[in-house]
Amino acid sequence: MENQQESVIKRIEEKYKAIGQNPDVHLEGLVWAKPITYWDYILPDALLNLQVQRTTEPDEMVFVMYHQINELLFKMILWEIDQVSNCETVSAPFFTEKLRRISRYFDMLSSSFDIMGDGMEKEQYMKFRNTLTPASGFQSAQYRLIEFSSTELINLIDYRFRATIDRNTPFEYAFEHLYWQAAGKDHATGKKNTMLVLFEQRYKKEFLEKMESYNTTNLWTKFKQLPDAIKKDPELVKAMRHYDYTVNVKWVMAHYHAAGKYLGTSEATGGSDWRKYMHPKYQRRIFFPELWSKEELENWGNDV
Ligand code: HEM
Repeated sequence: MENQQESVIKRIEEKYKAIGQNPDVHLEGLVWAKPITYWDYILPDALLNLQVQRTTEPDEMVFVMYHQINELLFKMILWEIDQVSNCETVSAPFFTEKLRRISRYFDMLSSSFDIMGDGMEKEQYMKFRNTLTPASGFQSAQYRLIEFSSTELINLIDYRFRATIDRNTPFEYAFEHLYWQAAGKDHATGKKNTMLVLFEQRYKKEFLEKMESYNTTNLWTKFKQLPDAIKKDPELVKAMRHYDYTVNVKWVMAHYHAAGKYLGTSEATGGSDWRKYMHPKYQRRIFFPELWSKEELENWGNDV
């Protein structure tokens, strides 16, 4: 026991000396340090003060809190993706483990979406949604970062413009032709709506930087750099396909059904032609296209 204590103290001394600090001062500080508590560490008081309604309808709380839960999970997903992105040479077990975690989080998001679809009274939703125009979940920056960090940019470009884009295209041009620009533009005039204008004012600069940095470090590029034998590993391929399908079909459809329940034939708060825009069979977002057969690609989103 004494030996163990001595070794810990020795390591503390070494650590602080190495950064030019007096270890005795730091040890003395421990005498006065408060014991850590759950509330000082997890910060529930701060977290539980972030739920603010704009109306008196109680179900608005369900809406706000579920969105916040989504944002927390988006953060967990980006946390794992960034570890893969920042790793110079990714080993197969590391990649597989991270991918499993990312998938588990997205599974949770798609399987819980009924909280939106079934968990609010339509009458209440129809009242509080009017106070939200022109905001939309479309403006979730983390969702866009998940896309940039999961696949190569070409897979996020609107199909109509893919032929005009290659590796030498400026990021600014690619940005203007991302698939989601369609939700915020008037088809006839190309004029951007307020939802999109505000979103770009807030995040465009950051998005351009991230588009560039993830361009060579996204999950798909990292996967392609793995040794051939690993890339063919059936379990890994299954996990990649699972993630792709969960994000781009399952989640998208759960979202589409929730929108259908509340919006029917009416306009979305963000103002998109949402039925056409949101359905996977039109949008055909696919992160890892080479992991799907020709037939699967042709039928993307048709089976739901
Ligand atoms: C009743 C609940 C919901 C409805 C009715 C709804 C409706 C919509 C609609 C109509 C759009 C298309 C853009 C627009 O014109 O606004 C959209 C986009 C989006 N929403 Fe929701 N949404 C709901 C819940 C959520 C939740 C809980 C999230 C999680 C953060 C979310 C995230 C998004 C994202 C990321 C987009 C952009 C998707 C894309 O570009 O394909 N939504 N939503």
